[in-house]
Amino acid sequence: MAIEAPATRPANPRFSSGPCAKIPTFELSKLSDAALGRSHRAAIGKEKLKAAIEETRDLLGIPADYKIGIVPASDTGAVEMAMWSMLGERKATMVAWESFGSGWVTDVVKQLKIDAEVKEAGYGEIVDFAEIDFDTDVVFTWNGTTSGVRVPNGDKIPADRAGLTICDATSAAFAQDLPWDKLDVTTFSWQKVMGGEAAHGMLILSPRAVERLENYTPAWPMPKIFRMTKGGKLNEGIFKGETINTPSMLAVEDYLLALDWARDVGGMEGLRERAYANLAAVQSFVAENDWIAFLAKDPAIRSNTSVCLKFTDDRIKDGAGFAKAVAKRLEAEEVAFDIGSYRDAPAGLRIWCGGTVETSDVVALMPWIKWAFEAEIEALSETA
Ligand SMILES: Cc1ncc(COP(=O)(O)O)c(C=O)c1O
Repeated sequence: MAIEAPATRPANPRFSSGPCAKIPTFELSKLSDAALGRSHRAAIGKEKLKAAIEETRDLLGIPADYKIGIVPASDTGAVEMAMWSMLGERKATMVAWESFGSGWVTDVVKQLKIDAEVKEAGYGEIVDFAEIDFDTDVVFTWNGTTSGVRVPNGDKIPADRAGLTICDATSAAFAQDLPWDKLDVTTFSWQKVMGGEAAHGMLILSPRAVERLENYTPAWPMPKIFRMTKGGKLNEGIFKGETINTPSMLAVEDYLLALDWARDVGGMEGLRERAYANLAAVQSFVAENDWIAFLAKDPAIRSNTSVCLKFTDDRIKDGAGFAKAVAKRLEAEEVAFDIGSYRDAPAGLRIWCGGTVETSDVVALMPWIKWAFEAEIEALSETA
């Protein structure tokens, strides 16, 4: 029996967790002011890079004495740069609850070979920060993109910590409040909540992080691409838009456009509310259907950007195959692109709910998920 398809389709079927949906008002023609074919070291290029830094500060409420740099290699570049430049001065605590956090553990333990305690939680959970020694350097991911969890707040990070906190906030920035006084190094990339282009990372340093850079030299060689100091002093230029190597001025223009849009929708508060409204639409759907659940059971740690779901129906024996088939069906209908769970994560769906996604699209997608689920269940009974 054919299951009737819902009447309404999402206007934009892009729910990928990175690169994420572009701003709803995006048009390529809006990038026509990009400083293309000009040197990024010319006044026009430098002004745009500086504007990207200062407008980021303004929107995210980053303190005036924190440094913000645009660095190579997206969020990964920013995290690596911080870890390779600052770790090793003292013991480290590596905290991981999903795939990306586990990647940072591998780097620190196997590549840098730093004395580190590793604290891990399974997919859908996080480590209790009360159990962490913040007199060590602590590396963690604020929002677990592949598991749909996030740190609820920074209350358990002591103000008088002796170590540095290094926080990969790539899928949290612009959607969740970040407690700047508790974060010494924060990173994100433009391709996530802002729907920007990849390639450039943002590296945000507290005064304590700068102090570490100026007073500690790691035992290992530092490639040019990671070098933030010159003669024992911070290379201040990096934090004024004098990038280490050549950036894409097209990507810069695109980020500036997204920042403009963010201001139009109410700045940080508007972005946060948009993400929460999207999460609420998924939450209502999950509450109405007993065959689907959040990977993150505890609402307090549930992400409002990378929303991860799992199928819980007993009739499903091959969870991975079933979830893949649902995602494929939705993609074939062009109602949802890229919503299969991450390759290392438990089987299910992952729906990006960051601010560039319209709530009306999330609402329209939900009945399609039910439709695809029912069609796949029916297919199971046909093959049984
Ligand atoms: C938590 C987290 N860290 C790091 C990355 C890597 O980001 P990029 O590819 O922008 O370097 C991602 C990408 O999805 C992520 O979600």
